[in-house]
This record gives sequence, structure tokens and C-alpha cells, in this order.
Amino acid sequence: MCGIVGYVGDKNAYSIVIKGLRRLEYRGYDSAGIALHQQSKLTVYKKKGKVADLEDEVVGKDNGGTVGIGHTRWATHGEPSDKNSHPHVSASGKLTLVHNGIIENYAQIKAELIKKGYQFHSDTDSEVLLNFIEDIQINNACPLEEAIRIALRRVVGAYVILVLDEADPQTIIAARKGSPLVIGIGKGEHFLASDASPMLEYTKEVVYINDYELAIVRPDELILKNLGNERITPYVQKLDLELSAIEKGGYDHFMLKEIFEQPQTIQDCLRGRLDLTNGDIHMKGIEEYAAQLVIAPRIIILACGTSWHAGLVAEYIIEELCRTNVEVEYASEFRYRNPIINPGDVIIAISQSGETADTLVAIETAKAKGAIILGVVNVVGSSIARASHAGAYTHAGPEIGVASTKAFTAQLTVLTMMALKLAKLKGTITTERFLHLLHELQAVPQKVSDILENHLNIEALAKKLTEAKGFLYLGRGVNFPIALEGALKLKEITYLHAEGYPAAEMKHGPIALVDEHLPVVFVATKDAYHEKIVSNMQEIKARKGRVISVITEGDTVSPTVSEEIFVIPEADELISPILSVIPLQLLSYYLGIIKKLDVDKPRNLAKSVTVE
Ligand code: G6P
Repeated sequence: MCGIVGYVGDKNAYSIVIKGLRRLEYRGYDSAGIALHQQSKLTVYKKKGKVADLEDEVVGKDNGGTVGIGHTRWATHGEPSDKNSHPHVSASGKLTLVHNGIIENYAQIKAELIKKGYQFHSDTDSEVLLNFIEDIQINNACPLEEAIRIALRRVVGAYVILVLDEADPQTIIAARKGSPLVIGIGKGEHFLASDASPMLEYTKEVVYINDYELAIVRPDELILKNLGNERITPYVQKLDLELSAIEKGGYDHFMLKEIFEQPQTIQDCLRGRLDLTNGDIHMKGIEEYAAQLVIAPRIIILACGTSWHAGLVAEYIIEELCRTNVEVEYASEFRYRNPIINPGDVIIAISQSGETADTLVAIETAKAKGAIILGVVNVVGSSIARASHAGAYTHAGPEIGVASTKAFTAQLTVLTMMALKLAKLKGTITTERFLHLLHELQAVPQKVSDILENHLNIEALAKKLTEAKGFLYLGRGVNFPIALEGALKLKEITYLHAEGYPAAEMKHGPIALVDEHLPVVFVATKDAYHEKIVSNMQEIKARKGRVISVITEGDTVSPTVSEEIFVIPEADELISPILSVIPLQLLSYYLGIIKKLDVDKPRNLAKSVTVE
């Protein structure tokens, strides 16, 4: 939610910050802005719209200066507009700030400031925070750093802030609680950003700032302190990320690139874990907590969005293979209802970004009640990864497209391996079945490649469906969550209404939607209930609905009841979700392209939701 970038050094700050903001647009793209230190004065440019609109705004204007901060926004307080864009400028005009997060008690602080005569030029909580800082600085006659510390001790909520002071042209002050902040260390320069992507071509040395830490950043100096003004030694880490990983690499869109990367990302996820030679799975994080997992009476899976769908698939697989009770919860619901955590319960938190505020707070709630937290996270060093006791990274690489694709299949791969590992530890799986599933997993990357080779069939299908006003997605068992994911992907990318439903449940309501215009997408791969889902297809067909089916190679029955089919390779039922979701991702992509929509940055969405 919102991306922030800062630079102090000897290069042109404008170009570094703008390039960084473009890389962070996945975090929000309602408006963008930049503040530059220029010959002892602060210059601010900001604009509603994407970073490109900001660049147009600045054309022909002075963009000089070697110190700057920038922001790309996902609106929370106040509609997307020029006035609500960041950076905000304080009442005196001497301070400017960018903010990612939400100040929950801003209304109370704002009321206090209005009583003192302050006027506000935006509807944002961020402008309130900035003037609050300035007010403290004036009243206490203290350095800015001290005023920020005092203010942050009073605010409730989440933030990363970067502040520039007209009187201190070589310094950015930054602070974090709840939203991410990385500082890159260069030679005579420092980079600040919501993730490491803006600094990749300049440095591989980074410091991940923790909650309640404040950084004073100058070209040659990085001072880290806690809110009690005590110095902290920065923990410098090496970045294991290449520039090519965040570029489009010849594809028209990140979404398509990421869909096509899946054979590789799934392979990366299996590497070093799947051991066919010894017939085993190696997962250090899980092994560390093996004893607790084996006796766990219950596993609670917490996640949001697409990651929640991965959790639903895992519920089927873990219960089937491990005979452990699994509950899957929306993190946002779990955290607010005083959840019951029994002794021995294990939490699995699933998150691509590792920064989703609801998931983070939910696991902190569970942790406080004594639960063990295992994270299934994509972004290394992210907040959820750090808040977990152990876990397994999904190794899908940076996912830039806002709608999740490759991170989802990597989550399914990791969760399947976790289930297999646990089943082996618990003795709830026969050696034969265990080895069979290991071989099935090993075959997944090639099968995904085979599906992707037929992408033109999905493009052709999308062309036939351009007039559709809404879709129904149906699946059963382990593929029911894939129906949910297919519907979510379609909503995100095409703005069409889509419902995902268990195929058999369809007759209890959604069947009323069916007419000759409604495409009904069945995830109907071969499984124990295949005949049942074919009956559901018949029910749709009998009502003139348009049956579109994702089916397994060799299925001769489904084509007889389907208007359109898409064939995927045969796989064990428990592995099939990793394959069956791929055509659904492609269908959303191609429909979005036909409709000329921004598939990488769908309206109103953000990739990393760091607000509640
Ligand atoms: C946002 C994204 C979704 C994502 C969800 C959870 O809403 O747009 O694609 O599934 O957050 O994100 P996480 O990073 O925790 O997996």
C-alpha cells in the first residue's frame, strides 16, 4: 500500500526516485509525487494518476538536486487527487513528508491542531502527522529528529515516513512501524524504499529497518536509533536479487511473464527440497518444528486474497495426507474475533509479499496466545517472514503483476511438500503413495510447460467470450478453491463479475444465474468425483448455460457436454490444482488484453496491502 523512495548522495535524485517509483507502482498508483532539495529550498511536484503522469508534469521544470523523496499512492484517507498526493508540506513550508500506512488517531490530533490554528490542504492523515511533528518541534524548540520521536510515540497506526527539512539539505529522516522500509548502502550515497527493487543497480548491501526504528540518513552516514534515542547497529545484508528479475524480459506485461515463468519458479521451489534419490523431502523450517507439528491437534492457516485460496487447497491436502484437523481463516476476520488457540495449535501464515497488514497482525495475535507460526512467504526478509518462528520461502522471485500468479503456484508447491513431510513424520502415508507423490511433484514443471505451449487456445477461447457480462466458476474437492481463484483472477483483471462455487452447491442458488449468455467454467480434472461434476455440467447445459471445461487428457465424456474444452496433462488429484489454475490465469489475462485494460495494474488494487 503506497510505495516510497528516497535518495541522498551526489547523483540526480529526481531520476533515481522516479525510476524507483515506477518499480514500486505495484504498491499503488492513484497519484505520485516527489520532493527535491534544491539550493536550500524544497520543491514539490505531485499529480493524480500514475508515475508517468507525474513525469509529464515535471517536463520543462527544474528537476535538479541530489536529495529527494517520492511516493506512489494507494488512497486510504481522501480520494485520489492532486491535493491528496504526497509529499505533503508543513504549515511553515519548511518540512515535507511521504507516508505509507495509516494514522488511526489522526482525527483527534487534527482537531487539536485545528484548535491551535492549523489549516489543512488535503484530506489525508499524513498531512496531520507532518504538522503534528512540526508543532512539536516548534513548541519544544527541539531538533526535528526528537520531534519525530515524540510524535511517533503518540500516534496509533502504521507508518513508514521519510521527512525532508529545508534547514538540513543533506539529510532524510525515516521511521518505520508496520510498513516496510529498506535502506541501500552505496559509496557516498544511500537509497531508501519500500522494497529493494529501486536500488538494485546501485548496491547489493541493504539494511531492513525494524518497527520502532528511526534512521538519520546522509550521503556518508546511516544512523539507526530506537524511539528511545538509543543507537542501534545496522544489520547489513546482501541482496540476492538481480535486475533482470524485475524487468519484463521481452514480454508485453509482467502478468504474462510471470505466468510463463511458472515452470521455472515451481522448479526453483522444489530444488533442494524434493529428494528423489533418497525418497525424502527436506524442509529445514518444518523439520525444526517436527515434534510440535506431529502432535499438533490443529493447524490454522491464515492468509488473504489469492494466498487464502492456496490455504484452502492445503486444507484438503493436509487433512487427506496427515489426518490433522485444518482450519483456514481470512486473517482479517481471525484477528478481530478473539480467536481460540489451544495448546499445541500450529499456525501457517501464507503471504506473497510478507507485508499484508491483516496477516501480520493475525499471526502476532496467535503468537501472543502461544501458537507456533510457520510462514509460507515469497519475499525474503519481509515482516511476516521475520515474525514467523520458522517456515519455507516460496522462491518465486519478485512478482510485479498485481494479480498473483506464479506466487500462487509456488505456494501450492510448498504447501504440498509441507503436507507430504508431515504425513511422513506422522506415518499417515504409505511409502508407495509418498514416493508416487514425489514423482508427481517432480513432473509438474514439464506439465506446466505443456499447458503454456497451448496458450493460443486460451487466447482463442477468450475471443469467443468477449461479450460475456459475468462468469461462474465451479469445481469440486481440491479444485473448488481453484474455481474461487479463477473467479478472483477474472474480477481483478477484467472487472467482470465472477463467482466461484463448489460445483454441487451451485444448484442451491447460483443456478438461477444460468442462461444462454452465462459462461460457466468447470475445473473438471479427473478425480474420484468426476462423474458428479459431469452431472453438474449436464445441469448447466440443460439450462442453456455455456459450459467451458478444464479437463484431463484422455477424458472423453466432458467434451460431449462442453461448448469449449481446455485439456491439461494427467496428474494425481492432489497435485492437479497447480496445473488447473494455469488456463484460468491465461483466460483472465487474454480477456483483460482484449478489453484493453491495464492487466499489470488493475484499478483500485495494490499488491502489498499494508493497511487493514
Ligand atoms: C492483495 C493482492 C492480492 C493478494 C493479497 C494477499 O489484495 O492484490 O493479489 O493475494 O493482497 O497478499 P499477500 O502478499 O499476503 O499474499
